Amino acid sequence: MSHEPIYYDPYDYRIDADPHPVWTRLRDEAPVYYNERYDFFALSRFEDVHTASIDHETYSSAQGTVLELIGSSIEPPPMIFMDPPRHTAFRKMVASVFTPRRMALLEDRIHEPCRGYLDPLRDSSGFDYVADFGARLPVMVVSSLLGIPNEDQDMVRGWTDAVLHRDEGQTGMTATAAAAFGAVSQYYQGQIDERRLRPRDDLMSDLIAGELPETSGPRRLTDAELHVFFNLISSAGNETVARLLGWTALTLARWPGERARLVENPSLIANAVEELLRYEAPSPIQARVLMRDIELHGKTIQSGAKIALLTGSAGRDRREFPDPDRFDASRSTNRHLTFGYGIHFCLGASLARIEARAAIAETLERFPEWDVDETAVEMVHTSTVRGPCRVPLLF
Ligand code: HEM
Repeated sequence: MSHEPIYYDPYDYRIDADPHPVWTRLRDEAPVYYNERYDFFALSRFEDVHTASIDHETYSSAQGTVLELIGSSIEPPPMIFMDPPRHTAFRKMVASVFTPRRMALLEDRIHEPCRGYLDPLRDSSGFDYVADFGARLPVMVVSSLLGIPNEDQDMVRGWTDAVLHRDEGQTGMTATAAAAFGAVSQYYQGQIDERRLRPRDDLMSDLIAGELPETSGPRRLTDAELHVFFNLISSAGNETVARLLGWTALTLARWPGERARLVENPSLIANAVEELLRYEAPSPIQARVLMRDIELHGKTIQSGAKIALLTGSAGRDRREFPDPDRFDASRSTNRHLTFGYGIHFCLGASLARIEARAAIAETLERFPEWDVDETAVEMVHTSTVRGPCRVPLLF
C-alpha cells in the first residue's frame, strides 16, 4: 500500500493517461473519495456505482451528468439530463423509434462499409486505426440511421468536427465552430422541412412524427427539440464507439495471445466486445447530484453534493471480477456498467455492440496481427469520454 496521499480528478492529463492505479487505490482505501479542488465525491466500487445507478431518486441527472457542467447555465439536452417523469416520456418516445427491427437491418449493412474502409489498407505497412477506420464507421452508421443521405455525410461530419474543435487553452467556440454550428442547424432544418412534406423510412422521420406522452397530453417535438435530439444521438453515438474501436486496436496489440484466440475462433468476438467494454470504458464517469443526505462506508455525504460514478473503475473491481486487470476474451462474469445501468441505460448499446462485432471481425480477417507505435498514441481529453484518438498500427 502506498503512503502517498490519494489524489484523483478526471482533468489531469497525466492521471487520465492511466487512471487504473489510482482507481485501484480509491476502491481499496477511499471508496467515498472527496476532491476538494473540484468539490465532488467519487464512488469507485462496482456495488456502489451499481446501487447509485439504479437509485435515480437519490442520484439525480436533472442538473447534468457531466461533472463540470453541473450548475452551469447550458441548455440541457433532453432525456440524458432528466429525471422521471420527464425522462420517462422522452425515453418512451425515443425507444419506440430505436427498434430492434431497425437495428437488425443495420447489422447486415455495417459489414459492407467496414470492408470499404479496410480493403484499400490491405497492402499498407500500417495505418491509423482510429482516423482511417474507427472514427469513420460510427459517423457513417449514425448518419444512415438518422437518414442523412450518403452524399451529404462527409459534409455533415466536417461541420460536426468543426463545432467540437476548441483552440488550445480555450473553452469557448471559435468563429469557425460557430459558423459550422449555423450550417449544421440550417441543414437539419432543411431535412426536417422535407420530411414534414414527405416522411421517409428513417429515424429523423420517426422522431418528427413521434408523440411525446406528456401528462398534459401527447405532443410532437418542436423543431428546436428535434435539433437537440439529432445532436444528442450523433454525439452520443460517434465519440464513444470511436474510442471503443481505438481501445480495441490497442488492447488486442497488448494481449496478442487473446487476439490469436479471436482469429482462430471468431465466435468469441461477441464475448470479447463485452470484455473490451469492461476493461477500458469509453465513457468512464457519469455525474449525478445527491437529492438527500446519505451514509456510505462510514461517511456522510450531504444533499446537493456532486457525485462522480466511476463506471470505468467499477469494471476493474476485484470484488466483482476475478483477476480484473487481465484481459480475457472468454471471461464469463461480465455484467459491466460501461453502458450505465437503470433508467438511463445506454439507448445505443445494441447498436454499439453490432458495430464493434462487425469492425473486429472484418479487421481480424484482413489483419490477424499488428503492433502499435505506443509513442505515437494520442488520447482525447474530456471528462466524459476517455480513449485514444490516434492508434498507429504497424504490420
Ligand atoms: C461504446 C459505445 C457507447 C458507450 C460506452 C455508451 C455509454 C453510455 C452511458 C454510460 C450512458 C448512461 C449515461 C448516464 O447514466 O448518465 C449512455 C446513455 C445514452 N447513450 Fe450511449 N454509449 C455508447 C454508444 C451509444 C450509441 C451508439 C448511441 C446512439 C446512437 C448512444 C446513445 C445514448 C443515449 C441517447 C443515451 C441516453 C439514455 C437516457 O438518458 O435514457 N450511445 N451511453
